[in-house]
Amino acid sequence: LLNEALKKVELAEDERSLQEVRVSYLGKKGPITEVLRGMGKLSAEERPVIGQLANEVRDQIKASIDLKEKELEDIHISKQLEEEKLDVTMPGRPIMQGSRHPLQSVVEEVEDAFIGLGFNVEEGPEVESDYYNFEALNLPKDHPARDMQDSFYFTEELLLRTQTSPVQARTMERHQGKGPVKIVCPGKVFRRDNDDATHSHQFMQIEGLYVDHNVRMSDLRGVLDAFVKRFFGEDREIRLRPSFFPFTEPSVEVDVSCGICKGTGCRVCKQTGWIEVLGAGMVHPRVLEMSGFDPNQYSGFAFGMGVERLAMLKYAIDDIRHFYTNDVRFLSQFKRV
Ligand code: PHE
Repeated sequence: LLNEALKKVELAEDERSLQEVRVSYLGKKGPITEVLRGMGKLSAEERPVIGQLANEVRDQIKASIDLKEKELEDIHISKQLEEEKLDVTMPGRPIMQGSRHPLQSVVEEVEDAFIGLGFNVEEGPEVESDYYNFEALNLPKDHPARDMQDSFYFTEELLLRTQTSPVQARTMERHQGKGPVKIVCPGKVFRRDNDDATHSHQFMQIEGLYVDHNVRMSDLRGVLDAFVKRFFGEDREIRLRPSFFPFTEPSVEVDVSCGICKGTGCRVCKQTGWIEVLGAGMVHPRVLEMSGFDPNQYSGFAFGMGVERLAMLKYAIDDIRHFYTNDVRFLSQFKRV
């Protein structure tokens, strides 16, 4: 019996078959238990001899099972170690690193410049009502200046905003006639245009608005001059040319002196020495009034600029479509920007 049991222990290949051996030899229904249970029927001389023998056999089987169990466990562990081995000398996999989109960098740079001048950043919806996109900005339904911004309409009253100026009206309304309002609003705008090197049906603008008591045109000039010097360089100048926007009066077009030819004339500035960068003006009294501000107490200036245009000038990019085609050869050039 002992030899048979030891043989089976030897042959057990895993914990489960070992457990079976344990149960069949040492369990309640096993042969040893049976012998010990039958002890009462034995004579007084036989009893100690048989008892001792049975105990010895049981202890030996138990010991060999325990030993085998330990062995199996060791095998299991070393197998696991073998399989899960790490080769710490293996070279790592390269991690592809993205880069900031140049438009995002420009937006943040412009925001930072104006935050430094005391402006807050505001945002508004891209799907806008005809009221905020046009009417509240002094462009009633039949106004011819609406043709300047061909629009994508969903319904008669809803469209993709053609400019960030509606955020002006929304923010002034929220202030309920109390200044100061001093904000910049970056965001996407949409116009029906055929895409080419300088036109895109979707682009970005940053709007600025400052409404308070006694805000004057010279304040506008000072703020924009400070911005241009910070964004393009200390040596840059601005000049204002009369222009027209329905929501500002007077309105101006703002040019920056050309940083390439320094005014002597080159291709970038079309030989004029000046580059047009943004539109601006004094907020029209009608616009103040419609958004809840008393034009007799408050005045303000507003400006709007194209983010792509700023980026193209700053990084010498010749085609607006580069910003939207996501060619990694283009994008990866802005890793450190
Ligand atoms: N919203 C104007 C445009 O898109 C720009 C602008 C903004 C002009 C604010 C003046 C004041 O053309």
